[in-house]
Amino acid sequence: MSVSQFQIDSHGRRTHTSGELRADHVSQHVVLKGWVDCRRDLGGLIFVDLRDRYGITQIVFNPEHNAETAKIAEALRFEFVISVKGTVREREVAAKHANMPTAAIEVMADDLIILNTSEPLPFMVSAQESRETKASEDLRLKYRYLDLRRQELKHNVLLRHRVYQAVRRFYDAEDFVEVETPVLMKSTPEGARDYLVPSRVHAGKFFALPQSPQTYKQILMVAGMDRYFQIVKCFRDEDLRADRQPEFTQIDVEMTFATEDMIYDTAEGMLAQIWKDVKGAELELPFPRMSYDQAICTYGSDKPDLRFGMELHDLSRTFKGCRFRLFDSVIEDGGAVVAIVVPGMGDTGRGKMDKLDKNIVRQKLGARGLIHFRLPSDGSETVSSVKSEVLPAEFVNAAVTATGASAGDAVLVLAGAAPKVFEQVGDLRLHLGRDLGLISDSPDGPWKFLWVTDFPLLEWDEDSGRFHAMHHPFTSPRAEDMGKLGDDPGSVRAQAYDIVLNGSEIGGGSIRIHRPDVQQQMFDALGIEEEEAQARFGFLLDAFRFGAPPHGGIAFGLDRIVMLLTGASSLRDVIVFPKTQSAQEPMVQSPDVVDEHQLTELHIQLLDESQDDA
Ligand code: AMO
Repeated sequence: MSVSQFQIDSHGRRTHTSGELRADHVSQHVVLKGWVDCRRDLGGLIFVDLRDRYGITQIVFNPEHNAETAKIAEALRFEFVISVKGTVREREVAAKHANMPTAAIEVMADDLIILNTSEPLPFMVSAQESRETKASEDLRLKYRYLDLRRQELKHNVLLRHRVYQAVRRFYDAEDFVEVETPVLMKSTPEGARDYLVPSRVHAGKFFALPQSPQTYKQILMVAGMDRYFQIVKCFRDEDLRADRQPEFTQIDVEMTFATEDMIYDTAEGMLAQIWKDVKGAELELPFPRMSYDQAICTYGSDKPDLRFGMELHDLSRTFKGCRFRLFDSVIEDGGAVVAIVVPGMGDTGRGKMDKLDKNIVRQKLGARGLIHFRLPSDGSETVSSVKSEVLPAEFVNAAVTATGASAGDAVLVLAGAAPKVFEQVGDLRLHLGRDLGLISDSPDGPWKFLWVTDFPLLEWDEDSGRFHAMHHPFTSPRAEDMGKLGDDPGSVRAQAYDIVLNGSEIGGGSIRIHRPDVQQQMFDALGIEEEEAQARFGFLLDAFRFGAPPHGGIAFGLDRIVMLLTGASSLRDVIVFPKTQSAQEPMVQSPDVVDEHQLTELHIQLLDESQDDA
């Protein structure tokens, strides 16, 4: 029989999936359907691993059992789609398959139908070989349907499904209503560029795809919905990184009459439900909390990775008046001298330290240079990278004492303007944490959750010369700081919080402003004129005039949660059809040019250079 011949599937429905058969099924007649994961030909005796979403079952084609079927099986190649009728029999378990759930059995084929063939593959997807595919990511994305057949990606898709279900189960039980908000909407201020959709009906006007459903969910609170959640696509045209996609999914939540504690409790409950359902793990609740200021001082980051120690030490007081020019001038200018203690680095040679200084501290972190004191493990004298004539030994010793460093450790020190220098030391800490193998991104944990609280309300932007909302402009100042909004806006703290897991920001939210006068004060602090505020957010200000209740909420990055749960190193591995680093989708090849008449209908004329680009 030629494999190109069209085959009618006369086997009828499959009786089982490829992950289902066990020793109990021995002697049963079954019909299985799926893909040829691999085929081994032992001189006429052919073994096929039949694969579907549920697993793999070994099929045996034996010419002595059925010569015609075994003959057809010779034509099988990777990824052919087949239907097999056969009998389940016990299998001698080869050690290498012992952990396969169907390892106890195999199916002796009575009949085989080839339902479809496959061209030779651009890369291997077989469960035997694909876990560590060597194919480039571009190729994998172009043939994403093949990539998704690989065990690893399939596992991620299925795990993601379980996360959706856990989320829905939790919120439903807690009386939250799932509400869909519009995708064609108006610009929302989450700080990124908008994706715009031109209106055909209203010439020159545009919808914006939501960066988040922030304003709608607040209005749902004004509408009396009390508790809302949504698993929702958000769109942000921003620079992409491994943990950022232009189109991503949030678990979006809002609650009426909410306090910060109420938000923390429900968020923790939801995360505990996910971890229980997906990992069978009991999370320890409540999660620890740390203020933003403390996080920056102790870890040099607003998303501290608590999987390892190496906390920062502010040595500005220790080095005050030390006569070392760099330290003296930084301290005089109100900057800081900040250190970390690195265990096991006390015996590291000068060459390696110089490399760390050049490649990481100066080039990558943009800091002014690394000062280090090494404490050899044999207990001999501390070796300072700065000569004792320049930095007297008494100060070096005081720094060693202040940091608690001991034999075998190195004290690494950076000096510079604050808070930047704290962030640079924080980044150095993370670099070394990875380098020294103190962090592993295992899908089995450890899981170090942390609430970061009391964020500043505003941050100063040098480029535009004005304040920006650190979270978004609807975030409420802390009650005790409310009075400072007019005179000293930079010092106002917000009722805003992030939830961090293993150094990754997996969610953020705030208690909102619910009074039009306070909202107007906030717009004033942000330099948003009344007219502009009315044009952009008039609908929200209007809503606040009609009995808006106090409310607050949070949104989680679902993709990031799934990334951590799977141990994936990029969001692209947990999104079925992701965008590349350059915001394109190689399989369907979007974005793409459109017909001239579509542009005309949309009242759009391209500039010459964009036509060239296209
Ligand atoms: P925020 O902007 O902090 O808050 O977003 C919430 C969470 O969404 C995830 N996230 C992303 N994930 C993947 N790719 C991206 N480009 C991306 N951007 C954000 C992060 C982040 O913590 N409306 C507010 C929430 C609120 O106040 O309730 C908001 O969107 O995990």
